[in-house]
Amino acid sequence: MTDPHRPEADARPAAVLRGLGTFLPPRVVTNHELSERMDTSDEWIRTRTGIRERYWVEPGTATGDLAVEAGARALKSAGVDTVDAVVLATTTPDHPCPATAPWVAARLGLGRVPAYDIAAVCAGFVYALANAAGLILAGVADRVLVIGAETYSSILDPADRNTAVIFGDGAGAVVLEAGRADEPGALLGFDLGSDGGQHDLIAIPGGGSRQRSGGNPPDPAGSYFTMQGKRVFVQAVTSMGGSSRALLERLGWAGDTVDRLVGHQANVRILHAVADDLGIDRERAIVNLDRVGNTSAASIPLALADAAAAGDLRPGERVLLTAFGGGLAWGSTALVWPDINPNRHHPTRPERWTP
Ligand code: COA
Repeated sequence: MTDPHRPEADARPAAVLRGLGTFLPPRVVTNHELSERMDTSDEWIRTRTGIRERYWVEPGTATGDLAVEAGARALKSAGVDTVDAVVLATTTPDHPCPATAPWVAARLGLGRVPAYDIAAVCAGFVYALANAAGLILAGVADRVLVIGAETYSSILDPADRNTAVIFGDGAGAVVLEAGRADEPGALLGFDLGSDGGQHDLIAIPGGGSRQRSGGNPPDPAGSYFTMQGKRVFVQAVTSMGGSSRALLERLGWAGDTVDRLVGHQANVRILHAVADDLGIDRERAIVNLDRVGNTSAASIPLALADAAAAGDLRPGERVLLTAFGGGLAWGSTALVWPDINPNRHHPTRPERWTP
């Protein structure tokens, strides 16, 4: 009988995960701190979302700074110091123009490699993985640094309790290399989708050409992040569930053969609903949002690194990644977890990095 956890020999080319690095800024913001500033409570935030605390940058730190820290750690984790391309997923770039990735590549000393940003909000990291895998499979690059980095604290309305309690800052990165589909770490397939008919559910309304070309003066209030939480909740469950199911079917993986579900860390109730929908035990759903909040494009690599450090993610396990966010946009991918050593910087939890 074949072992469902061991892929059969498959020499097809694939993008393979070789290293993982993460970085959180030093300042922890607890639910109690927020409840002193706005009409909310630790109890409400914990029971409605699962979040206990998150990290916000100090003034002067931007997304690119976090991306450099995570990127450097991913390169160390992979044991490499060169790549052929840098792909950065973010909703909070350092500037509207140019992209943040070239600056990050330069700061990392990676030379004149192609470097660009991906804008798919909380689905950004899975989109960036697909994009980087595409570069590898097209023969454009043999090794790609993929980063998800965010400073949501810079776009949150401090008076909006619907959003201010949910989001956190942070960054995570992986190194992908050309390899074979039967190697642990190979990204085995993707399912991606979008629904622009619901673009207004998650939005920063102002600051773009839609507002400016209408002759409207800059409106500071319109530069804040907005979200229709209840409608987003329903869409998140159905989109991540549907996308995951489509991918699992293509891979021939039954839900109960998935060892770890690493969903976008938005809300523990969403993660449990997706697990239920797919027939995956809730205990197999990785949860670290209690400690980091919703870090948007950084969410999946931060969850992977925390799970690996806690011993909740072991080599040989089947892992399903699924994410959802503004756009609307969603995406899923899957891999067998490789024997790598994540390099993680978590200010208030001990590191588990041994070079
Ligand atoms: N503290 C206290 N009360 C709050 C609150 C807060 N931070 N935010 C909202 N409330 C209140 C509301 O005003 C409402 O009060 P009312 O009943 O008197 O009108 C009540 O709590 C319920 O609000 P509601 O929006 O219906 O709560 P909810 O159970 O839907 O939870 C979210 C709100 C945002 C936590 C939930 O909708 C959610 O997680 N949505 C998905 C968000 C997400 O994942 N976004 C990222 C996707 S990429």
